[in-house]
Amino acid sequence: MKIIILARDMQHSEGENDTYGRGNNDDALGIKKTLADLHDVKILSVNEDTYLKLKEEKLDVVFNLADDGFRSDPTLEPHVAAMLDVLGIPYTGNNYFALALCQNKARAKEILAYHSILTPKFQVFSAINRKINPELKFPLIVKPIREDGSVGIKERSVVYNKEQLKEQVEHILTVYKQEALVEEFIDGREFNVAVIGNKRSLVLPVAEINFTEIPKNTPKIVSYRAKWVKQSLVFKKTPVICPAAIDETLAEFVKETAKKCYKIFGCRGYARIDFRYEENVRTSDVSRTSDVDTDQKKENKLYVLEVNPNPDISEDAGITKAAVAAGMSYRDLLLKIINYALVEAN
Ligand SMILES: Nc1ncnc2c1ncn2[C@@H]1O[C@H](COP(=O)(O)OP(=O)(O)O)[C@@H](O)[C@H]1O
Ligand SMILES: [Mg+2]
Repeated sequence: MKIIILARDMQHSEGENDTYGRGNNDDALGIKKTLADLHDVKILSVNEDTYLKLKEEKLDVVFNLADDGFRSDPTLEPHVAAMLDVLGIPYTGNNYFALALCQNKARAKEILAYHSILTPKFQVFSAINRKINPELKFPLIVKPIREDGSVGIKERSVVYNKEQLKEQVEHILTVYKQEALVEEFIDGREFNVAVIGNKRSLVLPVAEINFTEIPKNTPKIVSYRAKWVKQSLVFKKTPVICPAAIDETLAEFVKETAKKCYKIFGCRGYARIDFRYEENVRTSDVSRTSDVDTDQKKENKLYVLEVNPNPDISEDAGITKAAVAAGMSYRDLLLKIINYALVEAN
């Protein structure tokens, strides 16, 4: 089989993304190496000539790793998938529509809420001097509305008062040149779940980010450094545990919610859903159902942070760890994902 790996356009790459994370094509090189003895594999970086190049090639499938879009503009990520649709070439992962739906985190959260899936309360700031919705309770977390891979997430993103909030909103608006998504900070455990497949999906074992070793005054978050900067303390102190040490009932609930999200956004191929889990939350919901009963009850809440179609799929990525925990090798995972692309095309 002839496979073309569509890789990022490094010519236009700049900024924070450059050094780490998706700022290189290591995933493409790793996939090529893993599949080279089975298939004819070639890497092609995406640019404005790609359409014509692919039209001339005789190929069976594209492995789409161009998550940085055209001209290293991630807002043009869905367009790469759309181009492949126009060419009629089977490709791995999600179509333009799922990629676009999940790109704006606030829009995605509205869709989740419509489907009664819990997601942290939020407000979008498109200017600095917007009034904060009084329903939102500090601490809050301030994030760029459409980035991935913890870009724009640092310790200071967690804010405890209006002054810090204003500072961080301004930072997002000016540095990232996009709206700021302000969410209630869910101080709990963090899980993520990879799902593979098309209409019939397979949920891989739940993973947890272990924050227990993180220094006391550092917020328990997967900041940019914690995610990518291997030599940093926060990277070393936030290992991923897969399968997570959680009871079967909770694991099933997390997996079932992940599967629902996959379906709602029309995901195919592979995706990863990020969660925060808050235990023993005091609620006074009981009082709503009864006039006399004002007791507070404690409950656990599972929040979806976001749905990531086409997440990192390099050999050390979370999805690979989850596949290994499910008894697959990296190569098995890649071949399955290629197969999903081919069956979808027929
Ligand atoms: N509402 C929240 N409560 C607690 N932690 C959060 C919240 N939102 C984001 N985080 C932390 O920030 C990280 C990155 O945020 P996320 O929304 O998943 O963006 P990205 O697309 O960059 O992965 C999460 O993995 C989590 O550790
Ligand atoms: Mg995330």
